[in-house]
Amino acid sequence: VSDDFVIRRLARDDLDRVEPLWSALREHHAAVAPDLGVPRPREESWRYRRAQYEAWLSEPGSFVLVAEHGGELVGYAMAHLRSGSPTWPLAERAGEIETLSVLPTKRGEGVGTALLEAVREELGVIGVSEVSLHVVPGNLAATDFYERHGFSTYGLWLRRSDDPDSAAE
Ligand SMILES: CC(C)(COP(=O)(O)OP(=O)(O)OC[C@H]1O[C@@H](n2cnc3c(N)ncnc32)[C@H](O)[C@@H]1OP(=O)(O)O)[C@@H](O)C(=O)NCCC(=O)NCCS
Repeated sequence: VSDDFVIRRLARDDLDRVEPLWSALREHHAAVAPDLGVPRPREESWRYRRAQYEAWLSEPGSFVLVAEHGGELVGYAMAHLRSGSPTWPLAERAGEIETLSVLPTKRGEGVGTALLEAVREELGVIGVSEVSLHVVPGNLAATDFYERHGFSTYGLWLRRSDDPDSAAE
């Protein structure tokens, strides 16, 4: 296990630096969830994701953390705040991790764990102790990873489409 990487916040102006990591995640998702069809082309996917990040980053409490090794970004996490459950008094506010991605050649070396811990620390600073995230069905390695880090199933996200061209059934 190597720990020769540092975790730091990424400035909003540097967002494009995580594009290769986003691309790696998109490829991983396409591989583990073939039923969802062919993913968007790389550039289109990043444009879409970047716009979402920009919107989240304009909200208080949001941030991007990167893991850097020798000047290269090897992983990142993007998180923002959401309101708590209106049914259960679990938390007033919680963090939502929108992305956690580690470069394929750097997986299994503790980068993901360090990013996850750093996200929880950042949230802790503003008094937020709950965090959640979505996992694509079929991403079993990631589900195992999160469960080992104390996560458990919080909801099921269902979908239907009446567009006959929509790949997912
Ligand atoms: C899931 C992910 C973020 C974990 O980060 P990581 O740096 O590989 O994880 P760590 O090294 O801290 O922990 C490794 C553990 O994760 C598991 N793991 C999950 N996916 C893995 C992968 N593709 N390669 C190696 N280990 C993986 C291993 O089983 C390992 O378990 P162990 O600690 O019992 O040996 C990273 O593997 C990744 O980017 N995967 C592809 C994208 C993805 O699924 N992201 C999550 C989207 S919700």
